[in-house]
Amino acid sequence: NEIRIFCPATIANVSCGFDVLGVALDNVGDEMVIRKSAEKGIRITKLEGQDLPMDTHQNVAGVAGLALLAESGSPEGFEIEIYKKIKAGSGIGSSAASSTGAVWAMNELLGKPFSTLDLVKFAMEGERLASGVAHADNVAPALFGGFTLVRSYEPLDVISIHCPNELYATVIHPQIEIKTSDSRKILKTHLTLADGIKQWGNVGGLVAGLFTEDYDLIGRSLQDHIVEPIRSILIPGFDKIKSVSKEAGALGCGISGSGPSIFAFSKGKDTAQKVAEAMTHVYQKIGVDYDVHVSKI
Ligand code: HSE
Repeated sequence: NEIRIFCPATIANVSCGFDVLGVALDNVGDEMVIRKSAEKGIRITKLEGQDLPMDTHQNVAGVAGLALLAESGSPEGFEIEIYKKIKAGSGIGSSAASSTGAVWAMNELLGKPFSTLDLVKFAMEGERLASGVAHADNVAPALFGGFTLVRSYEPLDVISIHCPNELYATVIHPQIEIKTSDSRKILKTHLTLADGIKQWGNVGGLVAGLFTEDYDLIGRSLQDHIVEPIRSILIPGFDKIKSVSKEAGALGCGISGSGPSIFAFSKGKDTAQKVAEAMTHVYQKIGVDYDVHVSKI
């Protein structure tokens, strides 16, 4: 009647795929404990590691869980403990980790009445609370694992994408907080046909590169002509981090989710580690505090 789970961090957008592409990290994430309780409804009984609301209706795990309960009509109650390792506002899916952890574990404890796609829909309610928009590009990879494409929102259609064996991500987090809701407000709501053409060319190229394990094609496709030029202004040393990553051998580099974390993909762990060193040198030089991780994806 109790489950302890690891809830992975995720890189959303992956440069060209704003709100549609995302990938889960294997070694960065939160822990949660979810148990059935005699009392109906959902209570957040513990929240360690971050200063976040414990009121069920203000907490993304609570809201996502309530969406599941409403649909199931179950009379059960649940207690949730959240041990945050992912910092809020870091750009690696902190809210998604909590929302998905809650709905995944509750579904298990209820005997799995829902599909993984149903769980994505419930977890999206947590994203709506966190960012004002129910985007699925973090919650889908957190639930399905690996790389995912949200092919369509209405109706929701999530595709799992093959991930080459030697693909590694380096993620560096400059210690500033950027709220997704804020970094969405600064985006343009219209784009030119010319920008659209570049962007969907790259999305197709990235997906093809992942399926065919063509690392060079993956690298060529990691470009974003629409969102990155606007958001990168908020991120210290972004252009420099990007150029040193490529010099160190990264296939490509971009903003993780809504930032400020920056990700780079590399072929092989050694290269990913060299990229991490190159990135950290930049921040050491300009005096920015950071966390850095290398993850298999
Ligand atoms: N696609 C979302 C955004 C991800 O870029 O706003 C937020 O993590």
